Amino acid sequence: MITIISGTNRKNSVSKQVALEYQKILADFDTESTIIDLEDLPGDFIATALYENQGTNEKFNPLREHMKKAQKYVFIVPEYNGSFPGVLKTFLDALEFPDTLKGKKCALVGLSAGIQGGVMALSHLTDIFNFLGMHVHALKPKLMRIDGMMNDGKITEESYIQLLKEQAQAFIDF
Ligand SMILES: Cc1cc2nc3c(=O)[nH]c(=O)nc-3n(C[C@H](O)[C@H](O)[C@H](O)COP(=O)(O)O)c2cc1C
Repeated sequence: MITIISGTNRKNSVSKQVALEYQKILADFDTESTIIDLEDLPGDFIATALYENQGTNEKFNPLREHMKKAQKYVFIVPEYNGSFPGVLKTFLDALEFPDTLKGKKCALVGLSAGIQGGVMALSHLTDIFNFLGMHVHALKPKLMRIDGMMNDGKITEESYIQLLKEQAQAFIDF
């Protein structure tokens, strides 16, 4: 079972669409997955689920528990201001430390409107996950100019689909 995290809370995000596409690819490889969409974070989570309030937000706790129990994660990461979205870091800051991600495995997919494909976002996130003791798969597809490569919620660029399939197959065996 793989947990796919759509890494932004922006409504109707491309990240969510790519997360759904990734789920289909995993299903084609007979691998079950579930999606955590940061759009579903409770609106008050910054004020009520962090620091001295850790573990007390009843709407956030199921996500926190899910992240703690899961073993393998795929993060779909849009590039925001040359890095990954702040809400994703806040989500990570609200997880139980140090056990949630330690010794676990993840794969990263970058998306951007511009030409970087989230390369720096993935680099920054890799540093954080390695700091937390999580193993990051070396294949990290960087899907640049993603907005022009999608139609009706589906990825139309064949080379992008190929990159995701290669990563998914390698990550299943990781
Ligand atoms: C707050 C914000 C900052 C962004 N910064 C960048 C950026 O630095 N570089 C870039 O190429 N695209 C940037 N974008 C565009 C997103 O990377 C692009 O739309 C992405 O493919 C999908 O994001 P989404 O999942 O929010 O739809 C930004 C978007 C937002 C909302």
